[in-house]
Amino acid sequence: MISIVNFDINGCSYKLPVVYGTNYYEKAINISKLRENTGFITFDPGLKNTGITKSSISFIDGEKGELLYRGYPIEQIISKCTFIETSYLLLNGELPNTAQLKSFSENINKFNSISQEIYKILDKIPMSYHPMGILSSLTCLLPTAYTKNSIKEKDMYFNLLAKLPILAALTYRKKVGLPISYSDYEDLNYNLDYTSNLLKMFFSVPKKYYKRNTILTDALDKLLILHADHEQNCSTTTVRLLGSVHANLFSSVSAGISALWGRLHGGANQAVIEMLENILKSGGNIKKWVERAKDKKDSFRLMGFGHRIYKNFDPRARIVKKVAENVLSELGITDPILELAKELEEVVLKEPYFMEKKLYPNIDFYSGIIYQAMGIPKDMFTVMFALGRLPGWMAHWKEMRLNQEPIGRPRQIYIGYKKRNIH
Ligand code: CMC
Repeated sequence: MISIVNFDINGCSYKLPVVYGTNYYEKAINISKLRENTGFITFDPGLKNTGITKSSISFIDGEKGELLYRGYPIEQIISKCTFIETSYLLLNGELPNTAQLKSFSENINKFNSISQEIYKILDKIPMSYHPMGILSSLTCLLPTAYTKNSIKEKDMYFNLLAKLPILAALTYRKKVGLPISYSDYEDLNYNLDYTSNLLKMFFSVPKKYYKRNTILTDALDKLLILHADHEQNCSTTTVRLLGSVHANLFSSVSAGISALWGRLHGGANQAVIEMLENILKSGGNIKKWVERAKDKKDSFRLMGFGHRIYKNFDPRARIVKKVAENVLSELGITDPILELAKELEEVVLKEPYFMEKKLYPNIDFYSGIIYQAMGIPKDMFTVMFALGRLPGWMAHWKEMRLNQEPIGRPRQIYIGYKKRNIH
C-alpha cells in the first residue's frame, strides 16, 4: 500500500499523503495542502472524485451493489431491525439493548407535540403548496419556539424524530380534508411503535377505531429503514455543509429536505410514478420511451434508473421490489403500474445503452407503488423519503460536529470578466 503520491509540476517535485478507508481499495490523495504548497487547486465538477470527509456511518460498494449501516449489511438490518433501532444505530454507532431502546423511544415520545404557533402557520398555508416546501419551511421554524429556553443538543435529535412525522401527518390531513385537531398527535397510543403511530397520525378518523394494518406498517418500516442513510448524497452533504457553519440542526435538516426535493434525488420517486402513468396513458409503448431516454437530443431520462455510486444493482431496489410485490398481493391489489414497472425493468436491463452505462433500477423505481397502495398522494412520496432519511442526516450532522470539521467552502475557477471599470 502506497502512503505517498509523488508528482511534478513545472519541474518541481511534490509529495502528497494517501488516506485509506477501512477497505484498502478505498483510497484518496490528501490535497488539503495542495494550494498552499503548489498554487494549484483541483477541478472536479459534481464532486465525482472528491471525498469531503472521513465517515463511519454508512458504506456503499457501488461495484458489488452492497450497502452497510455501521458495518451491518442492509439485508440483515431489514430482516432483524426496526426503523427506530436503525435510527439508534445510525446516531449512536451500535444497536440498542432493550433498556436503551426503551429509553430512546420514551425520549422521542416526550417531544410528541408542536407549538400552537406552528400549528397556526400550517393552518394558513394554502394546500396547493408542495408538501416538501411546507415540511422544509416548518422544520426550519420549529426551534423558534425554543429561543428563550435553548434546547439541549441530545434533545434536538429526539425532537426531530418526534416532530417531523407530526408535520408530515398534519400536512397530509389538511391536504386530503381530514379533520385536524390540536390534540391529534397527543392522542397517540404509547403502546404503538413509531411506524404504527406514524400511520395512525396520517389515517385515523375521529370517533372511528383505528385498526393497525400490519402489512402496511411492516412495509413502511422497511421503506424508512432503506432510506435511512446513504453516505455523502446531495441532501446529506447539504446538511453537513450547514452544520459546518454552525447552523442549528433544525435549519440544517430543513435545507436537507429542500435538497432531497430535487427530481434527480429524492423527488425521483414522484417522477417515476408520473412517468409510468404517462407511459400507460400514451398506450404503454415501452420501447418508444426507452428510445427517448437513449436519445442525446431528448432531455427525457428514465426516472428511477441510474445512480452516482452504484454501478451494479442498488441493493435497496431489490428489497423494495419484493416489498411492493408482497404488499400488493397481500392486499389483493392488481396495479397495472407495477406490471408496467416490471416490464420496463426487464426491457431496460437488456438494452446495450443501459448495460454499457451500468444503469440499474434505484430505490425510487418501486417505492412509489407501495406509497400509492397506502393511500399516500404522489406529491407526498418525497416527504416519506425525508422521514426515513432523517436519522442519517442527524447522524452526519453529529459526526461532523464531533470531528470539528472546518467550514465547507469550495473554491472555483473564475471565467468571468477581468477587473473592469464602469464608464
Ligand atoms: N436515463 C437515461 N440515461 C441516463 C440515466 C437515465 N435515468 N441516468 C444516467 N444516464 C446517462 C447519462 O445521460 C450519461 O450519459 P453520457 O455519459 O452519454 O453523457 C450517463 O448515463 C451518466 O449519467 P450522469 O448523469 O453523468 O451520472 P450521475 O452519476 O451524475 O447521475 C443520476 C446519477 C441518479 C442523477 C442519474 O442516473 C439520473 O438522472 N437518474 C434518473 C433520476 C433518478 O432516478 N434519481 C434517483 C437516484 S437514487 C435516489 C437518491 O439517492 O436520491
